[in-house]
Amino acid sequence: MAALPASIDETAAQLLAQGYVAQRELATAAFLALRLQRPLFLEGEPGTGKTEIAKALAAMLGRPLIRLQCYEGLDLASAAYEWNYARQMLEIKSGGLAGDELFARRFLIARPLLQALEQPGVLLIDELDRADEPFEAFLLELLSDFQLSIPELGVIKAAEPPIVVLTSNRTREIHDAVKRRCLYHWVDFPDAQRELQILRLKVPGAGDALSRQIVAFIQGLRTLDLYKLPGVAETIEWSRALLELNALVLDPETVSNTLGVLLKYQDDIAKVQGSEAARLLEQVRVATHGSVG
Ligand SMILES: Nc1ncnc2c1ncn2[C@@H]1O[C@H](COP(=O)(O)OP(=O)(O)OP(=O)(O)O)[C@@H](O)[C@H]1O
Ligand SMILES: [Mg+2]
Repeated sequence: MAALPASIDETAAQLLAQGYVAQRELATAAFLALRLQRPLFLEGEPGTGKTEIAKALAAMLGRPLIRLQCYEGLDLASAAYEWNYARQMLEIKSGGLAGDELFARRFLIARPLLQALEQPGVLLIDELDRADEPFEAFLLELLSDFQLSIPELGVIKAAEPPIVVLTSNRTREIHDAVKRRCLYHWVDFPDAQRELQILRLKVPGAGDALSRQIVAFIQGLRTLDLYKLPGVAETIEWSRALLELNALVLDPETVSNTLGVLLKYQDDIAKVQGSEAARLLEQVRVATHGSVG
């Protein structure tokens, strides 16, 4: 297990070594979360690196990533713990089990939340907005005291507070009580320079000219009034697609044929295809002129 970073710069550098490009504000939030032992709550657009930073933190600290993917109907038994009734029955049948031993730790099956208290890892509570609201109330004790109260057994407290990252896509508001226990950061789309840096890291084969054009085009797309703007995930995916097609520069036909990699709603595609795409390409040509010829 690696030591915690000693500064914001060191946090950013260690994340970068894991292939994660953090904006200064995010590196600051991550650094403080580690030093103050507070959960990090990340909200933002889809595909902007919220889930990825938890993975990068785990890798850089040499700790396991313990992941809880939230969904509608997520319950305690899947999120925290479950009693192993089959094993209890077996031991009762084989005799020798005193009544007060029935709810011993060895009969408890640990799910992500309990696992994170019992081993020093990075706990990712991903897409909390997908879980039902009552589930949030259940998290409060864990987030503020790093412990779980199990009615039949008592309180299980972490020997060392786990590193916790929560994410939300903001399909609904997360309760203030949860947010208050966390450091909050809104993950925005990266600026062009940073997006280029991510692209160089993730798709080095794309080459400088094409990468610049891709980033300029996508940054332009994000200024449009679309139902769903492309995230960094789409930038990476599009670059890979263009590589597959042996594209060296962006041209109208290639853009038109590959818009489905970037935009996932027919209305958005219809809006961009044709004259809007041509206008964006002209912008790209002007913006990247120095790097193309
Ligand atoms: N800052 C970044 N540095 C490096 N890679 C990034 C960064 N941001 C995004 N990515 C890449 O973009 C992809 C999507 O990131 P991620 O899955 O973390 O997004 P997300 O915000 O969790 O999206 P969603 O809300 O849809 O779950 C990943 O493959 C990741 O490698
Ligand atoms: Mg995610």
